[in-house]
Amino acid sequence: DGGAIYSIQCSACHQATGQGIPGAFPPLAGSEWVLADSAILVSILQDGLQGPIVVAGNTYNGVMPYFRGKLSSAEIAAVLTYIRSEWGNNADRIDPIMVDEHKTRFGERVPWTSDELIAEFGKP
Ligand code: HEM
Repeated sequence: DGGAIYSIQCSACHQATGQGIPGAFPPLAGSEWVLADSAILVSILQDGLQGPIVVAGNTYNGVMPYFRGKLSSAEIAAVLTYIRSEWGNNADRIDPIMVDEHKTRFGERVPWTSDELIAEFGKP
């Protein structure tokens, strides 16, 4: 399930608490990006993310790996649904269909920057 995938694939960087590590890995708890339009989250997981990003008022500038080809659509949806409902987060679940739609639309895309996400999907 989503929690198990999170422990294996995400918690080394974002931590079991979802708080991240200050200056290095941004938090998922209370992150506007996690609570944003589901298309943003699917994009980050499928294609990765790089360059400066502001999360809850703090700027990070690192590289997040992509999971396209490493996790299935069902696994991506499960882990995203998990982070949208943990640590006080409260946002709609994400369906595997949304991941398949992303694949059809963007194919094998290079990692996003936060500016590109905002230009494509709007501000989180
Ligand atoms: C950014 C989720 C795995 C490093 C983000 C963001 C999300 C996210 C939603 C956007 C910013 C935020 O909300 O904090 C996930 C999930 C993962 C995962 C669900 C597992 C499936 C990882 C791993 C690493 C990592 C394994 C480290 C190797 C980062 C970094 C950023 C980031 C450095 C900021 C990138 C930048 O500065 O542009 N992650 N992440 N993430 N993640 Fe992850």
